[in-house]
Amino acid sequence: MNNETGADMGKTILITGAGSGIGRDAAFALAARGHAVIATTFSEAQAEALRAECTMRRQPLQVFKLDITDATDRERLRGLELDVLINNAAVGESGSLAEVDVDRIRRLFEVNVFATLELTQLALAGMITRSRGTVLFISSIAGRVPMPFLMPYSMSKFALSAAGAGLRAELDQLGCGVQVALIEPGAIHTGFNQAMTASKYAWMGPQSYFHDQAEQLKAREARVFKLLEARSTDSIVRQIVKAAEARRPRLRYVAPWIQGLFVRLARIFGA
Ligand SMILES: NC(=O)c1ccc[n+]([C@@H]2O[C@H](COP(=O)([O-])OP(=O)(O)OC[C@H]3O[C@@H](n4cnc5c(N)ncnc54)[C@H](OP(=O)(O)O)[C@@H]3O)[C@@H](O)[C@H]2O)c1
Repeated sequence: MNNETGADMGKTILITGAGSGIGRDAAFALAARGHAVIATTFSEAQAEALRAECTMRRQPLQVFKLDITDATDRERLRGLELDVLINNAAVGESGSLAEVDVDRIRRLFEVNVFATLELTQLALAGMITRSRGTVLFISSIAGRVPMPFLMPYSMSKFALSAAGAGLRAELDQLGCGVQVALIEPGAIHTGFNQAMTASKYAWMGPQSYFHDQAEQLKAREARVFKLLEARSTDSIVRQIVKAAEARRPRLRYVAPWIQGLFVRLARIFGA
């Protein structure tokens, strides 16, 4: 029971990007608590692997492929009566804003922001009609403090955190009973950060302003993530469960807490 706001159990919950990492772990955790979980994946191969894992773990998830940028895939939401939509799918992209190809940022925003919003609007249509439901956006602490050399990603998460906060206020004004909350994970070891930081070295050739510093930068990134990354998704999955079950979720859920504290301090001191 979530005493903060009261908890609703037995919900129908759809998660995007549940083929790996935080999304997959949240799907199994929510199913274990008795919710009907629809775990959607980027690719058909991920869907098959997830179905096999469900059989192995004897945990019944409904699984299908949902590339959130594909309008036909998104249409699969239309017939569903969702209590909770968890917008978890995302991609990462790094590099300095001084030189990164803006088309890379455009493609990233297409997934992390625009497709996420399009899917949310589809889910909201049903939720507003039924006067209930919750939308969670998996944003990031990178959406609260700018992260140099991760700015393409960081910008998309700033946009998502702003979107979630603004949408929450709009739906409150509508008085439709639909809730919106932000989940802001700190660094967690899923492989996402390593793939994202590596992406820039594929195009940072001798012409890059940072070419002479690239090796130093690489070493620093490896050190920082080794030091900071939580080894398990448990702390953030607990926050996702709390927000999904709450009758009136808070605006923000951050974990691990120590990284949340760092973000608060960084913002106080002007980051
Ligand atoms: N790990 C961290 O430190 C961290 C920190 C802050 C926030 N987050 C956020 O947490 C969420 C989950 O990340 P994660 O760490 O668990 O990494 P992850 O395992 O890579 O999860 C992201 C998932 O989204 C999928 N995806 C990508 N494009 C998609 C699309 N168009 N449609 C549907 N699914 C798509 C990915 O599929 P592919 O693997 O095939 O690309 C992947 O399964 C993301 O929103 C991320 O930004 C993570």
